[in-house]
Amino acid sequence: MAKERNAAGWRLPNMRPTLNDTGFMFEVLDEYAEAFIAEAGRAGGPLLEIGCAFGVATLPALAAGAEVVACDMEQGHLDELLAAAPAADRERLECVLGQLPYVDFAPESFAAILCSRVLHFLDGSAIDASLRKMYRWLVPGGRLYLVADTPYGIWRKFAPVFDARLARGERWPGLMIGLENWLPYPTRDARIKGPPFMNLLNPDLLARSCREAGFEVQRASYIDRSDFAGLGRMDGRENAGVLARRPAG
Ligand SMILES: C[S@@+](CC[C@H](N)C(=O)[O-])C[C@H]1O[C@@H](n2cnc3c(N)ncnc32)[C@H](O)[C@@H]1O
Repeated sequence: MAKERNAAGWRLPNMRPTLNDTGFMFEVLDEYAEAFIAEAGRAGGPLLEIGCAFGVATLPALAAGAEVVACDMEQGHLDELLAAAPAADRERLECVLGQLPYVDFAPESFAAILCSRVLHFLDGSAIDASLRKMYRWLVPGGRLYLVADTPYGIWRKFAPVFDARLARGERWPGLMIGLENWLPYPTRDARIKGPPFMNLLNPDLLARSCREAGFEVQRASYIDRSDFAGLGRMDGRENAGVLARRPAG
């Protein structure tokens, strides 16, 4: 079991700190990443993982025989991924340095896309723009796997704010600034910077934006990540997942 420290010195099993202060790559896959990997062997076309970090899903997708484009905004992650990929898989791996919502790929390039624990770093219009792009990048009939942080896991101090905004019908109730104020534990550690804001989501919000981008939503659910060890009480709604499909045409 990998044990790593983050900037504050906590030991978090199976969580690998990113190199660019965007949280952790969680080394235990959830059911959405597992389903994306299960497609890998039979996809019949390249797959895209966006926000791949060190390759937690890309490496097993390659091992299953897929051709994978792995995209991340941090070159250090891509360098490690390339070094970790077995030589026999490397010729099916293309690493692309790029950032949502600006990165672009040719239309109808991918049979499936996984974007896990990335969209919550974007504001609402950037989420919508990214989903419209993902729709274009997928072949007709292609599938999109999304996972995002909710306000009920690590960020549970924010849950009452989120729930109240949701009840008022706000479009993006999860927009949270000053992250240090919403951690579940007190910290004055100046080394913890993190991103300037997060935009926490739930399955309904993800599904809504997928539908607006043209997708058929096949599944939308909370993901139980009570195995986010070391971060205190969890309630089974730590992440939100969506499986959506570009209609076949
Ligand atoms: C919290 S980690 C998630 C890693 C992995 N996908 C997982 O689910 O454990 C976020 C990853 O997405 C990347 N990332 C964050 N914002 C991004 C953006 N706007 N475009 C592309 N990659 C981004 C980060 O560099 C980091 O590798």
